[in-house]
Amino acid sequence: AKLLLLNGPNLNRLGKREPEVYGSETLDDIEHNVREVVEAVQYQLDAKQSNHEGELIDWIHEAEGVYKGIIFNPGAYTHTSIALRDAISSITVPVIEVHISNVHQREEFRHTSLLAPVCRGQIVGLGTAGYQLAAKYFTLND
Ligand code: DQA
Repeated sequence: AKLLLLNGPNLNRLGKREPEVYGSETLDDIEHNVREVVEAVQYQLDAKQSNHEGELIDWIHEAEGVYKGIIFNPGAYTHTSIALRDAISSITVPVIEVHISNVHQREEFRHTSLLAPVCRGQIVGLGTAGYQLAAKYFTLND
């Protein structure tokens, strides 16, 4: 089976971006660590990142019938994008929403997710380990 690791806007800046909030790991490090979890149980991983809402929407549509699950950090689109929510609703592949930081400890505008109601679940505030835990969930649930 295959999983998709999807990262949204500004997450290509991880490692350099606000390290006091997001830590020092890069997106490459995260992809590497998730790949280890996934390949240990003979699953495959595709990893993609985009700063563009429409591109993320296209990839979500294309995931239908291809992936067993999507691990998705939508970045700030979490709090704004009805279009991404509708894209997730339009497919049957389950999505886990991941946030590196604890959005509930931060500004008010980060407390609401437009996407969470249409996701299988949400992992928040556990640092980059959240991605690996989401991968574990999809590989356990066979
Ligand atoms: C984030 C939290 C969002 O509020 C923020 O816009 C991000 C990163 C996180 O992983 O903690 O870009 O999704």
